[in-house]
Amino acid sequence: MPRAHRTVLWLLVACSSAFLLFQLYYFRNYVSKPGPHILSRSGHLAPSDVQWQTVKTFLALARRYELTLFLADTAALTLLSHDALRQRDRLVREPHCSFLCTNRPITTFALHANLWKYEAGFLLAAEQKGFEVMELRGDDPRLASLDTLSGNQIPLHFLLRLHGHIIQVVFLYERSGNYLWHGALRLKPGMDRRFASFKRLDYGRHAGAYDRPELVLTVLDGLDVRIPRNVSRFLSEQKHARFLECRHRDARNFLQLYPDDSSPEAVEFRRKVKSLLHLAARTLAPLNIPFWLSSGTCLGWFRQCSVISYSRDVDIGIFIADFRPDVIAAFRTAGLSLKHKFGKVEDSLELSFLSEDVKLDVFFFYEDGDIVWNGGTQARSGRKFKYVFPGFSLCWAELLDLKVRVPCETLDYLSANYGPMWSVPLRSWDWKTSPSNVQENGAWPVAEWAELIQVY
Ligand SMILES: *[C@@H]1O[C@H](CO)[C@@H](O)[C@H](O)[C@H]1NC(C)=O
Repeated sequence: MPRAHRTVLWLLVACSSAFLLFQLYYFRNYVSKPGPHILSRSGHLAPSDVQWQTVKTFLALARRYELTLFLADTAALTLLSHDALRQRDRLVREPHCSFLCTNRPITTFALHANLWKYEAGFLLAAEQKGFEVMELRGDDPRLASLDTLSGNQIPLHFLLRLHGHIIQVVFLYERSGNYLWHGALRLKPGMDRRFASFKRLDYGRHAGAYDRPELVLTVLDGLDVRIPRNVSRFLSEQKHARFLECRHRDARNFLQLYPDDSSPEAVEFRRKVKSLLHLAARTLAPLNIPFWLSSGTCLGWFRQCSVISYSRDVDIGIFIADFRPDVIAAFRTAGLSLKHKFGKVEDSLELSFLSEDVKLDVFFFYEDGDIVWNGGTQARSGRKFKYVFPGFSLCWAELLDLKVRVPCETLDYLSANYGPMWSVPLRSWDWKTSPSNVQENGAWPVAEWAELIQVY
């Protein structure tokens, strides 16, 4: 072979090898890579690319430090929860970042705080990766019932910022009522108020309470992420997760003025109330009927973080819109006996059950414009009463190791019912005349008594 030909051949081989290598390099770095391309067509980082890159960097860091995280971002989870067809549409249109790129400046993860030993190394490593870190701490509510001033604050939220994108890490702590709790996010003096658009955070405006979600590991946009198995359940829980801490300090002051009854009867009564409340929660949960602490039981929680030992019964409220006829059968199956049934679904419905010697009063509440009311019936005379409250929403709270709802506007609710002197114990109480918000409301027609006034 002439020398010149051989040179040309070698040149060709070298060129094609170089081209092959380039193809391989291109394929490994760009084409096979899940997630968006690094640069958009204009050559600038697009916001969704920043979001995906930031989440990826963060997740790699979290994996290194074995953080047990799950995706709690409402925007991303909403994209996931949409029906399968629309998900497919999105996948076709945007093959690379369909769920994590929400076009919001924040991506939120929740962290099981109990499984994590606090490690300064994590924050250091985050900073080495280029993250700016803001750590928000607060009092440990699990110590609030003890009379301590330990001053020991626990981490509540981390904000990690990279290229202007914020990763929020919400710390979830186990509480004694077998639920998960996160604290409110409050900036301390001197903290950078412009670090993030705080108003747009999904979590932190208030404290929140959650059932422990079942998690699954999945691949989203090429990244390994844990998510709640039932995304729509988690999202609906998230909407109503606001949690109110009991006012432990006021309760301590109250109990100094009016020491708790520690007689065996009072102790026994509290035990019965606890088991009855837990039973009510277990019975109503599968029926999807939300309930809240009402009357004396609500007052006990608010005033003394406990049960008023001379109250002799347990009071709960349910919106009439949530009434279901099988609620009576459900309580009977749970072992309670129906003691009385007053009124009807359209007007002043009230049920009363008996467990051992403690009564469970179930009051149904009717919404009427700005106000909410429930009815009362005097069995002997057929007289009707009406108890009027300002409108309220529902929050979670904890009483007797149970996660249970209370009106968020608790003080307004109790003041309506008990007047301005609600903080002073009152042993003699007449349900027809004592409440500040009771109104006479006529009487049931005698012909309907058999139907509307049932006593067992
Ligand atoms: C998810 O939770 C909702 C209640 O929020 C329930 O109706 C639905 O059946 C659950 N889905 C699955 C697949 O379990």
